[in-house]
Amino acid sequence: MDALQAILSRRSIRNYDKKPISDDLVKSLLKAAMSAPSAGNEQPWHFIIIDDRSIVSKIASFHNHAEMLKNASLAILVCGDINLDKHNGMWIQDCSAATENILIAINAQGLGAVWLGIYPRKERVNGLTNLLKLPENIIPFSLISIGYPAEKKPESDRYNESRIHYNEW
Ligand SMILES: Cc1cc2nc3c(=O)[nH]c(=O)nc-3n(C[C@H](O)[C@H](O)[C@H](O)COP(=O)(O)O)c2cc1C
Repeated sequence: MDALQAILSRRSIRNYDKKPISDDLVKSLLKAAMSAPSAGNEQPWHFIIIDDRSIVSKIASFHNHAEMLKNASLAILVCGDINLDKHNGMWIQDCSAATENILIAINAQGLGAVWLGIYPRKERVNGLTNLLKLPENIIPFSLISIGYPAEKKPESDRYNESRIHYNEW
């Protein structure tokens, strides 16, 4: 699949086949994440691979849109390290770019995933901070639920000319 097709056909996948994901595949996702652009190349991110069912199953107790995690093979938590954020708050955009890169790499390799918003919802940030024993400088940003897809979704054409402006509003 070429890069544009991987972007255009990406959809949120919330139903999975219970099949393990190889370490090589996981590494390819992390390489994609760390290839993202970041402000001044600050790379203020950390990634936590969560494949322990007893940990994954606790997340739905403080995240009200995370039911799909029950069937996921694993999840990747993208975290921002505010000690590495040299450009005053840009870590949010850096972590967003890393998250989207993971989603596109997942789609390109026949896996399925959904982005679960964490930051800035207090109960989700606190829940993951406590559950995973995160240090103070580490902010859980997004959680990506991942598995082999057990559902197919069509490409969604969201091209909208009314949102495009040339030179001024
Ligand atoms: C910042 C952000 C937070 C999201 N949080 C959730 C979530 O908590 N639970 C969920 O099921 N989907 C979540 N999604 C996925 C969106 O619902 C989904 O991307 C949107 O409906 C468009 O559908 P698509 O991804 O299939 O194109 C989130 C997406 C983003 C970008």
